Amino acid sequence: MDFEKTGSPLILLDRKKIKANLRHSTIQLDILEKTDSTNEYLKKFISQNEQIRVCIAELQTQGRGRLNRQWYSPFGQNIYFSMLYPFQKVLSELSGLSLVVGLAICQSIESVVKLKNKMLSIKWPNDIFVDQCKLAGILIEIQAESNGFCQAIVGIGINVNMLNATKKDIGQPWTSLLKITEQYQDRNDLCVALIDVLMDYLERFSSHGLLAFTEEWKSRDGLFGRVVSVISGSKKHEGICVGINTQGHLLLKTSEKIIQACTSGDSTLLK
Ligand code: BTN
Repeated sequence: MDFEKTGSPLILLDRKKIKANLRHSTIQLDILEKTDSTNEYLKKFISQNEQIRVCIAELQTQGRGRLNRQWYSPFGQNIYFSMLYPFQKVLSELSGLSLVVGLAICQSIESVVKLKNKMLSIKWPNDIFVDQCKLAGILIEIQAESNGFCQAIVGIGINVNMLNATKKDIGQPWTSLLKITEQYQDRNDLCVALIDVLMDYLERFSSHGLLAFTEEWKSRDGLFGRVVSVISGSKKHEGICVGINTQGHLLLKTSEKIIQACTSGDSTLLK
């Protein structure tokens, strides 16, 4: 498959088209040709008037991933998206947020793209995978306000029409929607679905917490029943994944038959 030679069209992000098709049409929407990082861009709007604001860019010069990694962000190919969302919740109540965002990403992609029987799954805490290859990632940054509530910047990167990247660009097995479906995708349709589904999921999370997503998480949990290692700071835990607890922490059954809750970190499938 050589899409560059077949001359797939380059469809740019189109603010009017996205706005016109949104159910949640009152959100502020900034479409940028270029920025350092869409998460960084939204920081200047924190605390202004607690409005929901979305920024999507064609290119990021300093796209950031979790754990100080870079996020490869070439022009016009993928989705580099951030949403500023005010929560009437204290910081500790947001511990399951990244899992809910992961579920929203999967649902929005599947509502637009025919994935040919391929299932999107989530590698705790927030990587979207297809067949052991990373399709999307989430970087959430939270600011606690003086009123006790929080504003979250939910950053999402989805590999959409990317076909080529070197090992230096992306240091792990990756895929894109174009690679999976062999079809060029209009990112505007995906952005509409992403905004609308994310808004629905964040509203539900605000009102009912992580509990409202228990069954959906089970259907997307890419680690359940697998032998997993989690590195969290200087600690390393290993065991069989038996799901998550009510706070969204990963539960591992260790060789000593103890259930270990992992609060944060990076998970790796061992078997
Ligand atoms: C990860 O998997 O490590 C998280 C990747 C998050 C990437 C997105 S792209 C839009 C937003 N802006 C950034 O600089 N990072 C996030």
